[in-house]
Amino acid sequence: MNHVDPVPHNAIALLDRPGRAAKTMAASRRELSRVVWRSNENVFGSGRGTLILELVDDAGWATAAQHSDGHAVTVAVDHMTFSSPVWPGDVVVATAQVEGTGNTSMDIGVYVSAQRRHGGCGEPEPVAEAHLVFVAVDEHGTPRPVPAVRPETAKERARCAAAAVRAEHRQAMRTALRALPGPRS
Ligand SMILES: CC(C)(COP(=O)(O)OP(=O)(O)OC[C@H]1O[C@@H](n2cnc3c(N)ncnc32)[C@H](O)[C@@H]1OP(=O)(O)O)[C@@H](O)C(=O)NCCC(=O)NCCS
Repeated sequence: MNHVDPVPHNAIALLDRPGRAAKTMAASRRELSRVVWRSNENVFGSGRGTLILELVDDAGWATAAQHSDGHAVTVAVDHMTFSSPVWPGDVVVATAQVEGTGNTSMDIGVYVSAQRRHGGCGEPEPVAEAHLVFVAVDEHGTPRPVPAVRPETAKERARCAAAAVRAEHRQAMRTALRALPGPRS
């Protein structure tokens, strides 16, 4: 039997929209890196989480701006996992890509790895993963439409499918929270 790649739930995101040709996921990909210095240590000697959060947000912005061809703002940090600490002397690299699109929003996955031993040698080790939502905005801060994203490989299609699941969950949670009585934040 032929292997069937997972199909994104929001298959509409794969279609070109009038006046807005879809762009490939690969074209949205951006990489940012930085060194962890002693000044970035927490009290236990490892790198502070805020260092990674800032790198993740910056890489997310770079990919959102690239894909939407203009400014974009972070509207939600959907998920953030730190799987291993980083240490002074590590070179951390964040790779971001657009994995799903709505009308004006972009689901962005950011994968962070660390090159140990002063960035010198060895395979980069995964240390964190984040999923954020950016909204493309015009000069007045008003949301503007974005091109759809087109995955080309089985791995990219799987990322798109995961982004669609995340978007569905977000929507379900927002609906459920709105139905609750009393303050919501
Ligand atoms: C992002 C922003 C422009 C959206 O404005 P808005 O009035 O909520 O706009 P809309 O309701 O039309 O929503 C626009 C898009 O954002 C998405 N969105 C809004 N709130 C969201 C949330 N909490 N989570 C995920 N997506 C969200 C909507 O689903 C919509 O996506 P779509 O067009 O793809 O369907 C506005 O909320 C804003 O300026 N936020 C501050 C952003 C910022 O300053 N970030 C940096 C913080 S340091």
